[in-house]
Amino acid sequence: MTIGLPGPSGPPVARAPETVTLGAHLAGCLQRLRAAAGYPVTGIEDMRALHELLGAAGSLPLGGQPASASFVSDDHTPAELSVSFPGGGVPSVRVLVEPGCVAPTLAESARVGRRAVERLAERWGCSTGPLRLVEDLFLPPAPRGRFALWCALELRCGGTPGIKVYLDPLARGPEGAAAAVGEALGRLGHGRAWPALLESAASRPGDELMFFSVDLGDWAAPRVKVYVAHRGISAEGAGHIARLACGGGRPGVARFCREAAGTGMFDRRPLVSCFSFTGRDAARPTAHTVHVPVRDYVRDDREARDRAAALLLRRGVPAAPLDRALAAMTSRDLGGGVGLISYLSLVQADGAEPRLTVYLSPEAYRVRAPRTSG
Ligand code: TRP
Repeated sequence: MTIGLPGPSGPPVARAPETVTLGAHLAGCLQRLRAAAGYPVTGIEDMRALHELLGAAGSLPLGGQPASASFVSDDHTPAELSVSFPGGGVPSVRVLVEPGCVAPTLAESARVGRRAVERLAERWGCSTGPLRLVEDLFLPPAPRGRFALWCALELRCGGTPGIKVYLDPLARGPEGAAAAVGEALGRLGHGRAWPALLESAASRPGDELMFFSVDLGDWAAPRVKVYVAHRGISAEGAGHIARLACGGGRPGVARFCREAAGTGMFDRRPLVSCFSFTGRDAARPTAHTVHVPVRDYVRDDREARDRAAALLLRRGVPAAPLDRALAAMTSRDLGGGVGLISYLSLVQADGAEPRLTVYLSPEAYRVRAPRTSG
């Protein structure tokens, strides 16, 4: 039995399979999640890509300490899965990995991550051009941020995954973050939208640029994305910020935040906005996503599941696929811990139905005990 680290409010919850490797645990989660979402049984290419991204971390046993202090997931599992539920459509599965998580320095982590992305792009015949255009801004010789490079795969039924690369705006320190993001957007053809975004969505004292992301490979419309964390914001404040994207009117963002979190004030873990850019030279972002860190605003995962199910139902999506996804991730009682469901997000894009995504922690090292108060 692995003894978990103490939860924020209550005793640690022990978890079992310490003879299993991190790679096997994550492959099991991903394979089951694919099946739950209706992907074909053979996902050989998806599994191979997962192992490639995990690299050396994949063969470490789960018992004992996490492979690194990765903040992809709360318990330092260097991976997170998510399922997106388009109204009326089939769910899609994604997996996010920190490829260089066991490297001794961020500089080495950057090299490991960069090589992993290059190998996938080569195998799938896609260009790393957008990454090459901006990497000097986020992968300096001695990075100072919280991570070097994360890579996510959006799995496709019967096709190669889409690749998303995440970089740290703080790589040159907090004082260089806005300049790095502005310069990167400019190089990728989205500079026109930056001044307004910076002023209205990233200039409050509680705002922090969190990720800069580029899509590589096979996408209908590859995106460039800027993520901003908003500490101490209200649901209405988040709704106001969302108006910057897609022609202005973004009804429903404030309501979504309130219903997902059960509160109108985000004084625990911050809300995160993401602005997406497609095409070139647009005056405003073409899509907006709000991420609600639901795990800090519920007692346990049962409550988080019920919130997600209610939000899905409102959009005409039944709860069964969500329940299948949760069962694919863990066999534990949902009421026995909190953090399996890390975020609930709502994306709204020009000309598309709003879409809900549920982010799932593999809980490889620890299950956080339910909140006992507040
Ligand atoms: N674990 C980190 C956090 O919760 C980073 C992270 C993982 C994240 N997945 C995310 C941030 C999805 C925003 C949205 O902040």
